[in-house]
Amino acid sequence: MDWLREAERARKEFYTLLAQADTPERLENIRILFMGRRGKVTRTLRMLAELSIEERRRVGEVFNRLKEECEQKIDEASNRFSSKSERGPSFDVTLPGKPFPRGRRHPLTILEDEIRDIFVSLGFEVATGPDVEDDYHNFTALNIPDEHPAREMWDTFYLQEKEQRLLRTHTSPVQIRIMEKSKPPLAVISPGKCYRRDAVDARHSPVFHQIEGLWVDKGITFAHLKGVLEYLVKRLFGPEATLRLRPSFFPFTEPSCEVDLDCLKCRGKGCEHCGFKGYLEVLGAGRVHPQVFRNAGYDAEVWSGLAFGLGLERIAMVLYGIGDIRLFLENDLKFLRSFL
Ligand code: PHE
Repeated sequence: MDWLREAERARKEFYTLLAQADTPERLENIRILFMGRRGKVTRTLRMLAELSIEERRRVGEVFNRLKEECEQKIDEASNRFSSKSERGPSFDVTLPGKPFPRGRRHPLTILEDEIRDIFVSLGFEVATGPDVEDDYHNFTALNIPDEHPAREMWDTFYLQEKEQRLLRTHTSPVQIRIMEKSKPPLAVISPGKCYRRDAVDARHSPVFHQIEGLWVDKGITFAHLKGVLEYLVKRLFGPEATLRLRPSFFPFTEPSCEVDLDCLKCRGKGCEHCGFKGYLEVLGAGRVHPQVFRNAGYDAEVWSGLAFGLGLERIAMVLYGIGDIRLFLENDLKFLRSFL
């Protein structure tokens, strides 16, 4: 028997079959056919016992090399099957896909972005301040000294530590922080969360959002305040929207006012939506108090300014016709999905 030709024939056959093996099962069949217990190569190696010592060494070497070569090729091919790129899809590509829900912006974020855009278009910059404030910025610097009864309007949550830090009750402390850092003139808005010790009901929440506004320049009057706010509500609610300025009191503005928006449902007549008042309170505002300028290191004789703090939830409730402030915090997907 010509063992060498035999080996060559076996090698050719092996490579022909290997080229056609397109599944792991076929590959396994080839392995069995050649290297299995009764496989071609294995059988030949077993037959070596019958040969002379010299022939055994010669033929054995050839077949052992063939065996190694075949094993290596099978290993390589089977690795290719298991590597992802070559494996066919292991799932049914015709099945409908699993829904992949897309998130969307919270209604308050939508409104905040819109209001930001309006002020930025007027030349205002946007700044932020910390939620955890100190007593000085939240109260004292805003002309609300210790023991002043006005502090009662802004009861809050205190952190148990020596410096008595607290959760800010309004975004007004950012006015101070801005003025401490920059020179006048300036025009800045500052959106953010505020906290108060309020019981939860349809109109109150211990966490809510405000957007603070501060414009400092020479010769700023109440007319500027009215102009800015009217521009804001007309951009938000349309040209028919009207404002009402009511005298009010804040220790950090003088004079101060509260600003109401005519109820869009009843146009001032009074209905369920506005609690039969005909209007809705949406913000507090005024001209910056000279003491606040002095506290921040500005010359109150030279500079004048206007400030306002608008309640984001209040405006969102009017704009979207939402009757209960708690909806903003409850993560009810049916509610949240109704905003684009
Ligand atoms: N900070 C006030 C509040 O939370 C609102 C306000 C801001 C009033 C700026 C006047 C000027 O009630």
